[in-house]
Amino acid sequence: MEKMLATVEPIQWTEAGVVMLDQRLLPGELIYHTYTDYREVAAAIRDMVIRGAPAIGVAAAMGMALGAERSAARTAEEMGAEVPAIADTLAKTRPTAVDLFWALDRMRRHFEALLAETSGIKEPERVDRIRRGLVEEALAIHRERREADEEIGRLGAALLPAGGRVMTQCNAGALATGGIGTALGVIRMAARDRPLEVLVPETRPYLQGARLTAWELQQEGIPLTLITDNMVGHFLKTGHVGAVVVGADRIAANGDTANKIGTYQIAVLAREHEVPFYVAAPVSTIDLTLASGETIPIEQRSAEEVTHIRGVRIAPDVPAAHPAFDVTPHRLIAAIITERGVARAPYEESLRQLAGPARTKSGKD
Ligand code: MRU
Repeated sequence: MEKMLATVEPIQWTEAGVVMLDQRLLPGELIYHTYTDYREVAAAIRDMVIRGAPAIGVAAAMGMALGAERSAARTAEEMGAEVPAIADTLAKTRPTAVDLFWALDRMRRHFEALLAETSGIKEPERVDRIRRGLVEEALAIHRERREADEEIGRLGAALLPAGGRVMTQCNAGALATGGIGTALGVIRMAARDRPLEVLVPETRPYLQGARLTAWELQQEGIPLTLITDNMVGHFLKTGHVGAVVVGADRIAANGDTANKIGTYQIAVLAREHEVPFYVAAPVSTIDLTLASGETIPIEQRSAEEVTHIRGVRIAPDVPAAHPAFDVTPHRLIAAIITERGVARAPYEESLRQLAGPARTKSGKD
């Protein structure tokens, strides 16, 4: 296999606990925290220490493994009584990114399988085997994220123009996945063999574009221009942009895609100016249980993230809204790039082929 591109590691499983890079402090400070309790991992997801749909899924899986590893349970039965509460705490962190619920379901199902597999083994060896099995599953999820990114990158790079400008939104990079990124993975792969410049909207109010994407691209020497969110229309009209490529938090069965707030307006403007708009995401982000984007739960974050920047008030004390995501209708999406292939309209068919059969849990529970 080709050597994977080296990128920043937002999350690692270590003997000391789950180590995460505090993304709230980037790009100014590179601070890693070690978490030894699953409740701390849940708080880190909620408070944006780690963010980005696939990385949230990895954190949730590692949180489950940590909960099991550090639990005082002496038998499989005692552990079985704790697992639902661990999963529930991790599930109640962020509602939109379906990778979170996908990872928790997978860990829960693996726990059930381990229970069955070890039924003939005596305690305490049985519960130890289950602990190890859950850690291995979390590591497998992490590894698969990296492999999926590489494949998405390869498939997506083939769709990007031979050179010139591409636009992204938010941060769908290494920081958001634990691999090379989805949208940024596509850009990274393409930038290896052609001259590309990336237009990076700052992505108010949390500034994932300005703080994270600009930093990741700079680290790798990929040329970029940072723009404010209200420059998107201007650059799509006059800036010779060859393609837009973004990540996703949840993709409904018909292709409607929830991603960072501001993505929808970019897609509308891209259509107006005949710029192809691509979504790059692993199949774990596809939620076939939702027929359309209308029922994707949209996280409402604190108004203070709009009225303040890093604790400094920039607006008077007025009501402010902060939906963290919006939904781009499938008709504006030229293609959805997954690790299993590139889906095109009609998405009901192409997504079902890539991601079916439908999962039973959707994160609504
Ligand atoms: O609120 P965030 O920073 O978690 O939102 C992240 C995004 O919207 C990303 O574009 C999406 O999760 C895809 S990350 C590969």
